[in-house]
Amino acid sequence: MDYNKAIMEIKTDIKNVFNSDNDTEIAAWDHRYATGIKLVDDQHRELVTLTNQLYKACRTRDGTLGNVFKETMHKMVEYVHFHFTAENELLERSGYPEYPDHKKEHDSLIKDILTSVKSYEDGNKFVPNSFVRTLKEWIFGHIAIKDHLYATYIRDQMNKGLLAKNFFG
Ligand SMILES: [Fe+2]
Ligand SMILES: [Fe+2]
Repeated sequence: MDYNKAIMEIKTDIKNVFNSDNDTEIAAWDHRYATGIKLVDDQHRELVTLTNQLYKACRTRDGTLGNVFKETMHKMVEYVHFHFTAENELLERSGYPEYPDHKKEHDSLIKDILTSVKSYEDGNKFVPNSFVRTLKEWIFGHIAIKDHLYATYIRDQMNKGLLAKNFFG
């Protein structure tokens, strides 16, 4: 799949959600995100859940936005970190040739997230909305394209018997 095309599709998804009355979900699980590797898909589903929690926190109108958003933002940072560490380890062990580039993309996303967190904590009140949108665009674009690519490689290696049967533990 073409990377730019996938990003455009995800952007359109986001626009549709923001223009609809749907005030509980911005991200939905979609076949485009499935890698066919259970461990990874479970973690990606958790990212969908957390993105929706953040989105909900953004739309809180009762004055609790600050606390709920901050707490959820930190949960998200922790979980993204956890997921990327697990994925990096998996890719390195599998001998994935694109691992260095893949890791670079993870590092760059973490850097962007931490910049937003800092900006929010410094008092920039415009962070929440743009944070959720960027997060969804970034993470889900990455999952739909880059994670999809390594999953194909890993499945292929498994089919060829080049990875141990207990590779996933
Ligand atoms: Fe991933
Ligand atoms: Fe990844």
